Amino acid sequence: MKILKVEHLKKSFGGLQATNDVSFEMQPGELAAIIGPNGAGKSTFFNLLTGYYKADSGRIFFKGQEITNWAPHEIVRLGISRAFQVSNIYPAMTTYENIRQAILTKQKRTLNLFSPAAGMAKKETRELLDISGLSSFADTIAGQLSQGDKKRLELAIALGCRPELLFLDEPTAGMSAEETTQTMELVKRLNRELGLTILFTEHDMSVVFGYAQQLTVLHLGAIIAQGDPGEVRQNATVQKVYLGEEA
Ligand SMILES: Nc1ncnc2c1ncn2[C@@H]1O[C@H](COP(=O)(O)OP(=O)(O)OP(=O)(O)O)[C@@H](O)[C@H]1O
Ligand SMILES: [Mg+2]
Repeated sequence: MKILKVEHLKKSFGGLQATNDVSFEMQPGELAAIIGPNGAGKSTFFNLLTGYYKADSGRIFFKGQEITNWAPHEIVRLGISRAFQVSNIYPAMTTYENIRQAILTKQKRTLNLFSPAAGMAKKETRELLDISGLSSFADTIAGQLSQGDKKRLELAIALGCRPELLFLDEPTAGMSAEETTQTMELVKRLNRELGLTILFTEHDMSVVFGYAQQLTVLHLGAIIAQGDPGEVRQNATVQKVYLGEEA
């Protein structure tokens, strides 16, 4: 069974067709990327998949269950989470508290220092701090983290929701080359070792071609090419509208 199946999804803003008849599938365990120029509709697609935008038409299925236009918290509870392109952290809380909050939210418990839930989430929070390389910033106010560390925190928060399917919107934006490699190696391990199905967007083509097993190219809200990296690289339309810019 497909973990994700999208049928003829459409979303417009005024006269602008931001998602234009997109049909898309993912196999469980896949690590795939969505690429396309600025404004192609990548974030809009993620917003539709996670309930932040309502679709005009089309259908979305997670493991065979229709989730079209479900509320974001219902979708998270089912096992889908996402890291935002623009950070969605609580800037006045510490790194530790941000991650713990995500874990507790998934457990449908609110933060209360005297409840057993807070203690139970402690170990998991420490693990996620460690996995994401943020242990030394546990007590740092999240708003004061560097851009790269905010992106790492964003990823840790998404993992705190214990997803099976994870969407990462430009997970390495603003990172140095070294931080980018660290983050993408983490993404690869989450995919290979934990079996998470992951879809990411990224503008750096060396990252895209280095990590994605499957590529989908969006242009003006529509899919113009799909396949493994080799196929997509050779595609004439992709060359013209997108990769050509870099050649
Ligand atoms: N809430 C909104 N209201 C109006 N227009 C929107 C909204 N969200 C997205 N759009 C428009 O939809 C189009 C697609 O935007 P989107 O953010 O999905 O592109 P993107 O591929 O993620 O771009 P980038 O690479 O710059 O992140 C753009 O023209 C954008 O201005
Ligand atoms: Mg975007």
